[in-house]
Amino acid sequence: MLLTRVDRTAFERDGFLVIEGAVDAATCARLRGRAEARVAAEDPTSLGGIFASGERANDAWFMESGEAIRCFLEAGAVDAEGRLDRPLARAVNKLGHALHELDPDFEAFSRDVHLGNLARSLGMQDPRIVQSMMIFKQPAIGGEVRLHQDASFLLTEPSTVLGLWFALEDATVENGCLQVIPAGHRGPLRQRFARTGATSADYRELDATPFDHAAVVPLEVPRGTLVCLHGHLPHGSAPNHSAASRHAYAMHVIDGQARWLEDNWLRRSRPAVPFYAS
Ligand code: FE2
Repeated sequence: MLLTRVDRTAFERDGFLVIEGAVDAATCARLRGRAEARVAAEDPTSLGGIFASGERANDAWFMESGEAIRCFLEAGAVDAEGRLDRPLARAVNKLGHALHELDPDFEAFSRDVHLGNLARSLGMQDPRIVQSMMIFKQPAIGGEVRLHQDASFLLTEPSTVLGLWFALEDATVENGCLQVIPAGHRGPLRQRFARTGATSADYRELDATPFDHAAVVPLEVPRGTLVCLHGHLPHGSAPNHSAASRHAYAMHVIDGQARWLEDNWLRRSRPAVPFYAS
């Protein structure tokens, strides 16, 4: 991976940074293949979680996935009796949340020294990966991800979370590309999704300022693009009604110098994962 156009000024101004050509086509294909192989090895009858943004599976399957690689399903792929209405490969919403730690291929990709240097060049002292996920955004049923700020889910004191979102396929308006509010990271953090028990969490309002939906812009990007997202940038994605999938790999990085809040939904028994040393 070669990142040559890291522009901290633009990132601080806009709250996001688009770096095309960050990942070569062969690597995109390899990661997609690896994720699909993991899904193929799952037993569809043993899966416990449907994932829909805003209505997260508030149960052990989700709440204990911080140190696991678990399949979450699209709500649109499950019938009234809870059975899959299509093959699992076309029903999975995402795999999460420790691919960067438990899958050797994803680990090698995620901990790349260049990504650690990127996080440092965007202002982090001790960048560490705290979460990762493969997002499938399935054809026809890939669900909407409502506007949100990642710091709502992964908060440190001070707030440091950085999203690194890799397009493993072309992302278009038709297949549900990212949508952002440029410069929206300068507004307040609206919500907190915090743990309320061993297997439960809830949304708490921090600030009632609404998101400026009129300011949302789509980020259409070609395969291999890395989008860096400030932890307070409002972003989401529309449903995928097209015939094309929109596979993406996303990971979230925090600064190890900041204090991890113990009531974050995501729990880890081990420290967050550092990048490889240069
Ligand atoms: Fe996000």
